[in-house]
Amino acid sequence: MTTKIYIPRDAAALALGADKVAKAMEDAIAARGLDVTIVRNGSRGLHWLEPLVEVETSEGRVAYGPVRARDVASLLDAGLVAGGDHALCLGKTEDIPFLKQQTRLTFARCGVIDPVSLDDYRSHGGLRGLENAIAMEPMAIVAQVTESGLRGRGGAGFPTGIKWKTVLEAAGERKYIVCNADEGDSGTFADRMIMEGDPFVLIEGMAISGIATGATKGFIYTRSEYPHAIATMAQAIEIARAAGVLGQSVLGSGRAFDMEVRTGAGAYVCGEETALLNSLEGKRGIVRAKPPLPAHKGLFDCPTVINNVISLASVPIIMDKGAAFYRDFGMGRSRGTIPIQIAGNVRHSGLFETAFGLPLGEIIDHIGGGTASGRPVKAVQVGGPLGAYFPRALFDTPFDYEAFAARDGLIGHAGIVVFDDTADMLKQARFAMEFCAIESCGKCTPCRIGSIRGVEVADKIAAGIEPEKNRELLADLCNTMKFGSLCALGGFTPYPVVSAMTHFPDDFRPAPLVEAAE
Ligand SMILES: Cc1cc2nc3c(=O)[nH]c(=O)nc-3n(C[C@H](O)[C@H](O)[C@H](O)COP(=O)(O)O)c2cc1C
Ligand code: SF4
Repeated sequence: MTTKIYIPRDAAALALGADKVAKAMEDAIAARGLDVTIVRNGSRGLHWLEPLVEVETSEGRVAYGPVRARDVASLLDAGLVAGGDHALCLGKTEDIPFLKQQTRLTFARCGVIDPVSLDDYRSHGGLRGLENAIAMEPMAIVAQVTESGLRGRGGAGFPTGIKWKTVLEAAGERKYIVCNADEGDSGTFADRMIMEGDPFVLIEGMAISGIATGATKGFIYTRSEYPHAIATMAQAIEIARAAGVLGQSVLGSGRAFDMEVRTGAGAYVCGEETALLNSLEGKRGIVRAKPPLPAHKGLFDCPTVINNVISLASVPIIMDKGAAFYRDFGMGRSRGTIPIQIAGNVRHSGLFETAFGLPLGEIIDHIGGGTASGRPVKAVQVGGPLGAYFPRALFDTPFDYEAFAARDGLIGHAGIVVFDDTADMLKQARFAMEFCAIESCGKCTPCRIGSIRGVEVADKIAAGIEPEKNRELLADLCNTMKFGSLCALGGFTPYPVVSAMTHFPDDFRPAPLVEAAE
């Protein structure tokens, strides 16, 4: 029987040489006359082990990593094809602790299947949710999503079912589903991993969303920095269309839904839903005032669902296994699972999908394995560039929307960036202001001007110029930005700044102090 060897085609693995490994493997297999097929799968999300090569054995898959092209000959000599032992052998893939401790619902197939094989997708449970949905009334689909407790994974945590209900009930000849795949948050890659590793799950989720709300057209809005995701999604959409999953009659239901990928140039603010809509319409990516909500007046003034990739990709399993199955995971009002993305100065970086509720410290210390530098963790920033810095004292915070909010933090898109004790939190605060100044769309004054003043004030504190007065000024400025900004870019930039000041006050007292210049 032909043996399957899996070598990821995910961008993270490619960046670490997966194509070279695949080429070396292909050549070596041909030279040795082995009966092997190479499957280019998505990533399992264990970044420190990429490229992670797997071989299908009668006992299940056996993993090797990180593999370089130069390792291929010795791997084959050691009997890789039969799961043979080697210094790079990690044992059975499913038994690797980082994977074994996860609850993979949304990412169940990612890294397992060939991303562009619809047969593979189907044989791993794909399309069952859509099949169930087309047999239901739109309101019943919306009710199931609402009952699952699914909240938007793009940052704001808004209940997905309620958003869909608003669009379903909105009058409009045309309605749209827009998938927010801009993924601009620092340290995040979950959206990219799904698009590259299991694109059909997103297509299925969008088709269900269309059928539930009466939208017949969908757009995936992503960024030019994601060329592999764009190519994989476009290929999967063509395959789905040819197979009748998309088109005039979705799976023969008589209900129409089709979709395409659109690429933005890559501006952080274009992830904000109204700026995204402007960009999608070919205009400058500038924030629109709300109301009207996009659910009432969105793309081309039509009722529009805007959801994050992970929100939409979580819908198929909800429609397959039921609302109760999904909401059984999690804590409080945070139901289901969340793909936590661990990045920065950390030993085990990657994607860890788990039910809500895991304490932050466990994620950093046990799952992440502490810092890559081996130095003590000083702070972690959760939720992207607008997220708060948490010190070790807050590591008992459970991964839950409300628990983070109660401590002036946010989960955002569930990205965590780890910093060791060499980090200068005043510099990080300055960076937050600088980032906001660069990325601001310029529509409102607190953000456009405030962020530039913020950089200047941080510089004065660093130079020891009237530090006490300038610390007060920085806090006051943050207050103005928080409450006076039109959107969360200006409104949340104070979170990293204020948390850095609150939890790391010593970094805001650089010594020696000098007197004011005047
Ligand atoms: C500055 C800014 C950037 C954002 N970037 C993203 C993004 O990259 N991806 C995303 O899904 N949501 C992003 N959001 C949140 C979106 O505005 C919106 O809440 C989200 O797409 C809704 O989908 P959800 O309910 O499924 O989370 C951003 C918001 C702001 C203010
Ligand atoms: S807060 Fe910043 S990004 Fe948001 S609307 Fe105002 S200027 Fe634009």
